[in-house]
Amino acid sequence: MSFNERYGAWAKRSGELFAEASTVIPGGAGSSARTVKFGWKPYPPFMASGTGSRIRDVDGHEYVDYLLGLGPMILGHRHPTVTAAVADAIQVYGTCFGLPYELEIEAARKVIDAVPGIDLIRFTNSGSEAVGSAVRIARAYTGRRLIIRFEGHYHGWQDTVYWSNHVDPAVAGPASRPRPVPSGPGVPAELEGTMLVLTWNDPESFAAVMAERGDEVAAVITEPAVFNTGCILPEPGYLELLRELTKLHGALLPRRRIPGRRGWRQRGGHVDHRGRPVLAFRHLQRQRGGLRRRLGDDGSARRAWLVPAAAGSRPAADGWLA
Ligand SMILES: Cc1ncc(COP(=O)(O)O)c(C=O)c1O
Repeated sequence: MSFNERYGAWAKRSGELFAEASTVIPGGAGSSARTVKFGWKPYPPFMASGTGSRIRDVDGHEYVDYLLGLGPMILGHRHPTVTAAVADAIQVYGTCFGLPYELEIEAARKVIDAVPGIDLIRFTNSGSEAVGSAVRIARAYTGRRLIIRFEGHYHGWQDTVYWSNHVDPAVAGPASRPRPVPSGPGVPAELEGTMLVLTWNDPESFAAVMAERGDEVAAVITEPAVFNTGCILPEPGYLELLRELTKLHGALLPRRRIPGRRGWRQRGGHVDHRGRPVLAFRHLQRQRGGLRRRLGDDGSARRAWLVPAAAGSRPAADGWLA
């Protein structure tokens, strides 16, 4: 029996929902990253509910949600205190105003108080927006245009980064210097010149490109442990190399920080994928003086990018996102 046949029997109801979803939602899923095209073959499982650390699909299978709903469910699913607070807020204030409101100041202040080194926050609704903001800020701050990203990584659907996720090997170019390939139609080909795509976990190609063009690079964006093309851990020393060479060339390395328990609670810094403290952009603090780390985050506080704060003659942080 083929995998698809076995999966189809195992996830029958999900299959029915996927067929129905595909008639009203492009690709049958709310994020491109969860579509067949991006590897969820023959279709993704559909979830029914979650409680605490577990989620359950519509076919009755239970999973431990190690991904924490991709970040926001740090207290587990349907935590009674969180559920009550959300319901209260909607009852007392309303749902959405499209204008500033006092609660968002309180939310921002809570994050700032909980995470050392953060002094300003932009909330966003999705990871794509957070990445788009991080890329824009990196370009504004450095005055450079070039972004380095890695083949197979996914950073959302914005034109600037919707490239080279699941690439047809026939058009991918050599592993030592892959060719950027748009992930779908409608992405302007002109943007190809604004990025370099590299093979991940390959220190030689990264070192070579930084030696050649490091001073043109605004930022290097990476999934620290690859989630969107299977689960691939970085080789020992690889992330450290990214850090070292971006630092050397004055490029930024936005860190996606999920507010996990250790990260938010640990005093003195965020933690990396191995639980060790990281101090993103510290080199910039030293180099340019007075820089402090900032956090860009989405509305549900599920993702965060660390970006540098304003310094000297640089435009004010508000200007970078305006
Ligand atoms: C590493 C990474 N960055 C960005 C995104 C984009 O997030 P969203 O789908 O919320 O726009 C994703 C989504 O899966 C992701 O995995």
